[in-house]
Formats: sequence, C-alpha cells, structure tokens
Amino acid sequence: MEPIRRGDSDDLFEAVVGQDSVMRWLATGRADSRSAARAMCDDHVAHWTRHGYGDFAVRDAATHAFLGRVGLRNRAEYGVDLGFAVHPRAQGRGIAGEAGRACLDLAFRRLSLPAVFAFVLPGNTASISVPSAWVPRRTGPSSPAACTVCTTGLTPPARPPRNM
Ligand SMILES: CC(C)(COP(=O)(O)OP(=O)(O)OC[C@H]1O[C@@H](n2cnc3c(N)ncnc32)[C@H](O)[C@@H]1OP(=O)(O)O)[C@@H](O)C(=O)NCCC(=O)NCCS
Repeated sequence: MEPIRRGDSDDLFEAVVGQDSVMRWLATGRADSRSAARAMCDDHVAHWTRHGYGDFAVRDAATHAFLGRVGLRNRAEYGVDLGFAVHPRAQGRGIAGEAGRACLDLAFRRLSLPAVFAFVLPGNTASISVPSAWVPRRTGPSSPAACTVCTTGLTPPARPPRNM
C-alpha cells in the first residue's frame, strides 16, 4: 500500500473509476472518465498534503498490479471515513479487509484519531460485511477509538451515531 499519486490515475481508472459495478456504490453512482480519475488522483494528493493521511493504492506484492484504493478521508462535517474500492477481478480475496485493517491501525495507533466511520449504501452487502467485522474490536484497552458502520444514503448524517 502506497499513498495514491498522480501517476496512479490510469490504474485508478481501469480498476475503479471506469467500472460501473464499483462506481454504483460510490458517490457519483456510475462509471466516469479518465479525466475524472486524474481529478480524483489530484484530490487524493491534496488530501494527503493537507491531512497527512488519505487513500492508498493497493497493489499485489508480487506483480505490482493495481488492486484498488483503500483509505481514510477527512469529512469536515462529521469526521474520518474509511472507504474502499477493489477492482472487480480482485474482489472476494479479502483485500478490502486486509487493507482496511491496516488503515484502522494507522488511524488509531499512529494518528490517534478518536473514531472512524464507514458509510455504506443500503443493499451493499459486500461492503457492509467488511467493516462490520471490525465493529466489536477495540484497538487498545485504554483507547476509546472504534470503527462505526453507518448505513446511509449518499449524504452522511450530520451527526453520526456514537461509537459502538
Ligand atoms: C466492497 C468491496 C470493497 C469489498 O472488497 P473485497 O476485497 O472484495 O472484500 P472481501 O474479499 O473481504 O469480501 C467481503 C465480502 O464481500 C463478498 N464479496 C466480495 N466480492 C463480491 C462480489 N463481487 N459480489 C458479492 N459479494 C462479494 C465476500 O464474499 C465477503 O463476504 P463475507 O464477509 O460474508 O464472506 C468490493 O466489493 C468493492 O470494491 N465493491 C464496490 C465498491 C464499494 O462498494 N465500495 C465500498 C463503498 S462503502
């Protein structure tokens, strides 16, 4: 996993932005263009610069093939959200779970964030099962940190539920 760079935009397009089956569950709801993927990469880079964390390009350790993007996004109005999108060909191999856990480790152990939220559209069963597996987990006996899963529409609630 490496922070997304501008040079990842073609890979991001092939794996995520150009895939209807992936994008239907994300904010725009449908596949988009290569230029949209470039703009998203610029946005990811700016987010890393501003916050010191963000989305990662997840690549196969052996082949370096781009598998998807997973990471933390600061939403000013409600907190930090854990998001993931995996290439259709790479889904079902536990990639979102493994990369998501690494992001939670970053969030709680290194960044000491108080909470992380995962917003999932109703009906997205593949997605909700990933963070749901972590909800009961606390990251340390003295830490109040927790991952909370919110099933919601495209607009997150102004005030997310309290940590579980
Ligand atoms: C959600 C997503 C990130 C999961 O990534 P993944 O690496 O495939 O996750 P996993 O391999 O850990 O599988 C998670 C669950 O989804 C199921 N799953 C994976 N791919 C699936 C598919 N194409 N269709 C249906 N279920 C699928 C798995 O069986 C698993 O279920 P289980 O926990 O009950 O066994 C991936 O499916 C994806 O990118 N979806 C489109 C974008 C999206 O929904 N992003 C999240 C927005 S909140």
